Amino acid sequence: MSSFPPRNEKAFSYAIPEEASQPSKKSRVFRRLAIFLGLTWVVLAGFRHHSSYVSGSGCSVKSFLPSLNYESDKDWDWDFSAGGRFQNQEALCPQASALVPQKNKEIWEKLATKFETEEWKAKAREGLAGAVRVPSESYDNMPGPGEDPRWEIFGELHDYLEKAFPLVHSTLSLTKVNTYGLLYEWTGSNPSLKPLLLAAHQDVVPVDPKTVSEWTHPPYSGHFDGTYIWGRGSSDDKSGLVGILTAIESMLEAGWTPERTVVLAFGFDEEASGHHGAKALGKKMEEVYGEGAFAFIVDEGGGFSQLYGTSFATPGIAEKGYIDVRIDVATPGGHSSVPPPHTTIGILSQLVVAIESNPYPAQLTRSSVLYSSMQCYASHGVSMDSRLKRTIEKSVKSDRALKKLEKTLFEEPATKALVGTTQAVDLVLGGVKANALPEQAYAVVNHRIDTASSVEEVMKRDTETIQKWMKTFNLSLEAFGEEVVLDRKEKKKKKAYYGSVVLTDAFGNHLAPAPVTPTGGEEAKPYEILSGTIRGTFNAFRNVKSLGTGGSKRLEEEIAVEEGGIAVAPGMPTGNTDTRYYWALSEHIFRYNHKNSRIGTNRLANGIHTVNENMEVEAFYEMVWFFETLILNTDEATSV
Ligand SMILES: *[C@@H]1O[C@H](CO)[C@@H](O)[C@H](O)[C@H]1NC(C)=O
Ligand SMILES: [Zn+2]
Repeated sequence: MSSFPPRNEKAFSYAIPEEASQPSKKSRVFRRLAIFLGLTWVVLAGFRHHSSYVSGSGCSVKSFLPSLNYESDKDWDWDFSAGGRFQNQEALCPQASALVPQKNKEIWEKLATKFETEEWKAKAREGLAGAVRVPSESYDNMPGPGEDPRWEIFGELHDYLEKAFPLVHSTLSLTKVNTYGLLYEWTGSNPSLKPLLLAAHQDVVPVDPKTVSEWTHPPYSGHFDGTYIWGRGSSDDKSGLVGILTAIESMLEAGWTPERTVVLAFGFDEEASGHHGAKALGKKMEEVYGEGAFAFIVDEGGGFSQLYGTSFATPGIAEKGYIDVRIDVATPGGHSSVPPPHTTIGILSQLVVAIESNPYPAQLTRSSVLYSSMQCYASHGVSMDSRLKRTIEKSVKSDRALKKLEKTLFEEPATKALVGTTQAVDLVLGGVKANALPEQAYAVVNHRIDTASSVEEVMKRDTETIQKWMKTFNLSLEAFGEEVVLDRKEKKKKKAYYGSVVLTDAFGNHLAPAPVTPTGGEEAKPYEILSGTIRGTFNAFRNVKSLGTGGSKRLEEEIAVEEGGIAVAPGMPTGNTDTRYYWALSEHIFRYNHKNSRIGTNRLANGIHTVNENMEVEAFYEMVWFFETLILNTDEATSV
């Protein structure tokens, strides 16, 4: 799992031409005219915004709006004398204040003292290392538990967890779902509070045997070198899995009991799309707890890193959708010595060219997650280039500035891919013999679907692109189970075709874009709790550490963003997590691991999905602290 922002800050060092950022000297008359036009435009833009809101099609209208409340005029303070520049930056990306437990303050401070205890630290890191030593790999297209012996290793992992977290296992109830899915419930004393759901996955991507020699420490050694724990899964996602269990074990040890129920869901094939694990867990939780039962959900996802001179945490609030469209072309075979002008392969090639010459438009809209992220970077990134910053500020109202911002951002393909639907022709097959006309050929196009679009929209657009070529080649078209009527008159005559094209969902695993988690307005209470907890944990952990023993006295002190504190920005993950099966359980889903994603380095630098995966042990302790603080904060929250 990785998320926006992409890899390094370098990708974001913008060079923006002077002209659009700096208002040129205007005559008085011209300025007045500009102000008048500006005001008229604001009114019109407001109206247009409203109508596009109403007419939004595809997925639910609400999901179009990560809502930073940029539409509400009360937050705005325009200074027209400065060329209509936005003045109140904070309002673009308001930050929740650091949130630390009040009612549970005593227990929280008690929990903090363990960071000074070598005994606790040794136990915590050994807990993670031990889990890494169980190679719980998952593979694509595995039949379910009981049908494939490769799942059995998960039984070993369960035995290990039982031994390593005795209090968790004697206190929480545990249901095994589809044999290896783990569903824990830490039952709270107040059943009227919506439970909190924490998710993680037990499986890891397989280690390619050819790469074992490239590992500094063997992939399942769980070796601790004093700074890092090494091995497959040390970060993705056993740090999350063990982090949650370590937090709860510590809280139980300290004698705390929750008012609000905490549920833990640990899938076992997240890296292979969650068909057996999260899918069954999601269904089970719908049965047991019901739709919309959870206050909010936190699963693995984006961490925090340094961008524009500021630490930004980027919890993922959405996920793109997915579909693989298969294009099958069939025409009569025959001997290659009497060829038609276009063989099946020739026709397929033309269709592929048609698809590639017709990319999906990518547009930076004010409702996209990427746009919300940029607003936050502009508001709180202390070293952001001032011209870029101004462009972002202006783009709140100026379409011209918005276009300019889009142009700048889209120069980086990884950033561009965060908005709009993408397409990639990833598979092609056809022909069996050099002297025989191919009767069949197919290609598969992989799409990642924009949060504002839908599977249906992609099916429709691909059909339209292909349809245009049917007459040229005299072919019939069937798209996603339905015959496409190409010519009404001809249809009556029961027209015969030379061949056929059939479009299908290649593997039957299409996925709609995830609903966007609200981050503004009344709906955003869970986002505020999460943001406040991130900021509170970040501050407290650094305060405690900098003071050494006795540091808990400074737990509550807030470090401002300008003084090196952390800011929170909505993130857009580039992949999917197990939460794809949890949409019905809560509209507040966050993909977030409270860990440093390594400043200015490629995400692969800590080896996720490749060689030398590792976890910095200090970051792991902080993650445990984050889960403890999150559980306590949510327990005493009255707003969710
Ligand atoms: C289309 O193909 C059918 C079957 O081969 C043939 O009968 C028909 O004449 C063709 N039509 C055109 C316009 O080529
Ligand atoms: Zn993962």
